Amino acid sequence: MKKLIAGNWKMNGLRDSNAALLAALTGSSRHWQCDVAVCVPSVYLQQVRDLVAGTDLSCGAQDVSAHESGAYTGEISADMLRDLGVRYSIVGHSERRHYHGETDALVALKAQRALACGITPIVCVGETLAERESGQTEDVVRRQLAAVIHANGHCISEIVVAYEPIWAIGSGKTATPEMAQQVHAVLRMQLNAASQMAQRIRILYGGSMNATNARSLLAQPDIDGGLVGGASLKADDFLSIIAAAY
Ligand code: PGA
Repeated sequence: MKKLIAGNWKMNGLRDSNAALLAALTGSSRHWQCDVAVCVPSVYLQQVRDLVAGTDLSCGAQDVSAHESGAYTGEISADMLRDLGVRYSIVGHSERRHYHGETDALVALKAQRALACGITPIVCVGETLAERESGQTEDVVRRQLAAVIHANGHCISEIVVAYEPIWAIGSGKTATPEMAQQVHAVLRMQLNAASQMAQRIRILYGGSMNATNARSLLAQPDIDGGLVGGASLKADDFLSIIAAAY
């Protein structure tokens, strides 16, 4: 299966720096052997969509509303993302779960809204350090994914999953390839049990993936790409990760 490397810019970038970063990335896109996307702040979706048009780079959002339309001040609907030509949306990132109180049920609804509009949701799951240390990692990620499977039935084969151990995000601490693979294998089994088409679902690893550790993580049998935060903001680093994905 073709790997996917998705950058998560989080709340970073301004128009000038976005343009410079994208110019550096798209200049080399003819060599890519994987799918590549950048998930950008919503105010820049249109700018990025225009700048990546005709290149191998896809445009993604970082969140989507669970509602279709109407009186939801500040929210952005999946239909609006589709209208802008957005291909992916992250849903349930741990920063949204943590700072915005997003529950498993809400994340499942967001994935459902995205799928209904032809946007591929990148569904994030992952445990805290305390959960890992108390041996709950598998239960936590299985519970988070189960909510999305339950709400989406056979459409589940259209999602992307990202395993992001929270203690590894932005911390410089990466799960070892073996630790990540162990959780990916659990998620793969859960997906296989839910859908006959599950083999096509890509399971990304995220959490301090960088130019140095990407190759060994991406070599694991159930790691089908990366969700890359900090390292996606530097063209050289992001390109090195892309080059490690084949
Ligand atoms: P990081 O972020 O690569 O900076 O750890 C990953 C993410 O939060 O998606």
